[in-house]
Parts: sequence; structure tokens; C-alpha cells
Amino acid sequence: MNQLVRCTLLLLLLLPGQMARACPTGCQCQDPTTILCAARRGHTVPRGLPPSTLSLYVFENGITMLSEDSFAGLPALQLLDLSQNKITSIQKNIFQSLTELVNLDLSSNQLQEITNETFHGLRLLERLYLQKNRIQHIHATAFDTLENLLELKLQNNQLRAVPPLDLPNLLLLDISWNKIPSIVPGTLHAINIESLKIAGLGLTSLDEELFQPQNNLHELDVSDNLLERVPVVLRRLGSLTKLSLAGNAHISQLPPEDFRGLHNLQELDISNLNINTIPRDFSRFFPRLRAMTASGFAGAFCEEEEEEEEEEESPLAPHRCPSASPQLPAAPRRSCAPHARV
Ligand SMILES: *[C@@H]1O[C@H](CO)[C@@H](O)[C@H](O)[C@H]1NC(C)=O
Repeated sequence: MNQLVRCTLLLLLLLPGQMARACPTGCQCQDPTTILCAARRGHTVPRGLPPSTLSLYVFENGITMLSEDSFAGLPALQLLDLSQNKITSIQKNIFQSLTELVNLDLSSNQLQEITNETFHGLRLLERLYLQKNRIQHIHATAFDTLENLLELKLQNNQLRAVPPLDLPNLLLLDISWNKIPSIVPGTLHAINIESLKIAGLGLTSLDEELFQPQNNLHELDVSDNLLERVPVVLRRLGSLTKLSLAGNAHISQLPPEDFRGLHNLQELDISNLNINTIPRDFSRFFPRLRAMTASGFAGAFCEEEEEEEEEEESPLAPHRCPSASPQLPAAPRRSCAPHARV
């Protein structure tokens, strides 16, 4: 009897140590709620994790597949980082048990398809990162149950259309670097969206009806497209604080009337357009402007003849950009070379 008690005591004393040792190889479990298994080698998600785990980082592990019980014992999980693995597909019911999940990072994998089952039921999910995959197809109702989603990142995939989105709480959508040459009005039901990134899609125009009149857009990135002119829809986007039109090499004019409504703008990027001159009083439209990037001009800031030395001392003469801050990136010197076409 005495011996049994002693054995039990010994066992109890050993238990915490044993639990610490139960941390899977290649993982760190110092904080019992955060398990870090970065760059661990393994084709599957590690087993035997404490059920109290709130955050699980298993990026860069070489994981090729997820099975239905991969996350079965982790009912409290709020953050799951599976980025930089080799996951090609996700069977249904993989994530369904993760009812507390808030952040899910699946970026830099090899996913090709998102079905209506993939994320079904993740009602608390706020951030879903799917960038840098090979996603070609997203089922029409794939995101429908994600009613709390705030951020959706889908850039650098192989999408050919904007997935139908009915996400009233979405604040950020990045679908840059897909092959979506036109965005059909009505596809974006994200009425409260604050940040929209649609760079590198091959867009030739932006439909005027794309945004509701009562939109709340703060940031718009339409860089590296094939826009033929400054989108007229900008006239309705008075809440914008950050705008990039950079790298639209077909834009050859900056008509003042298109910019007149942007009185909240703080950052503007008009680099690498097909423009030789910026209207003299251009910055007058933007009383709050803090930074304007305008590199890659063929002589933009050289519209008045000036001594070359003077240009070098002060590439941006104050009268040309009165409200811009001193750290305003200067046009590259070559654009101000004596032989630059003006
Ligand atoms: C997904 O769609 C299929 C039909 O395309 C349907 O049978 C199934 O019930 C749907 N699943 C969910 C979770 O909505």
C-alpha cells in the first residue's frame, strides 16, 4: 500500500516533465498555448499536441497532405500557420472541428481549388491567407459561411475571375497578380471594404459601377495593369488615402478633373506611366499629401528649363510640389539629364 502511494506520488511528480517531453520533435513548446514547429521536416502535421494549444505554427515543414484528424485534438486553436508547405488539396471536413479559428495562413502552398466545403463553418475566421498558390477555381459559395472575415488574400494565383464574394465585413481584399482582365460590376459585394489591391491583373479599364456610391475605400492599388486612362471612377472615391496607378504604361495624361475629388489622399504613386509632364498645380488637389512617388518619368519634373546643377541640389523645386514632404522620392536623375526629352 505504502509503495503504491509512493509510486503514485512519483508518477505525479514526473508528469509535468513528461508532458514537456511530449513536445513533438522539431517543435518548441515552451509556452503551452503556442507551438512553434518552423522548418521541421515532416510530411504531416505533428501529433500529440496539447489540447490547450491556441497558436500552431507549422510553416516550411514539407507537409504534403492534411488528413481528417490532423487537427482533431485542438479544439481551442485560434491561429494556424501552414504556409510554405506543399499542400496540393484540402479534403472536406479538415478544418471543421476548428470552430475557434481566427487566423488561417495557407499561403505559399500548391492549392489548385477551393470548394464550398474547404472552409465551411469557420464562422469566427477573420484572416484567410491563400496567396502564392495555384488556385484556378473557387466555388461560388466557398466563403459564404465566413461571416466575420476581415482579410482575404488571394494574390499570385491563377484565377481568371473575381470569386463571388458576399462578405459584408471584409476590410481587405488582395487579388493582385492573377489573370483577370476585367472585373464585372456586382461581383464585389464587400460593401465596407477599405483596402482593395487589384494590381497586375491585365485590367484595361475599371468599371464606373464597381464601387457603391457609399463606399469606404481607403487604399486602392491598381498598379501594373494595362489601364488606358486614369479611371473615371476615382472621382467617386473621395475617401481614398492611398492610391497607386504605377506601371500603367498606357496612361499618358493626368486630367485634373479625375483627381479633383481625392482631397483625403496621403500617398500617391504615379511611377512608370507614359507621361512627360505633371500639371504644374497637380499637388494642389491633395492638401493632405505626404508622399508622392513619381519615378520613371521621361522628364516629368524638368518641364521648365533649369541649370543641371540646380536640379541635382534640389531635384524637386518646392514650387512644383508644395504640399509634398521632403522625403518625397525624387524622379531618378536620368529623367533630369540634359538630354531628356521634355
Ligand atoms: C457543396 O456543393 C454541393 C453541390 O455542388 C452540395 O451537394 C453540398 O451540399 C455543398 N456543401 C456545402 C457544405 O454547402
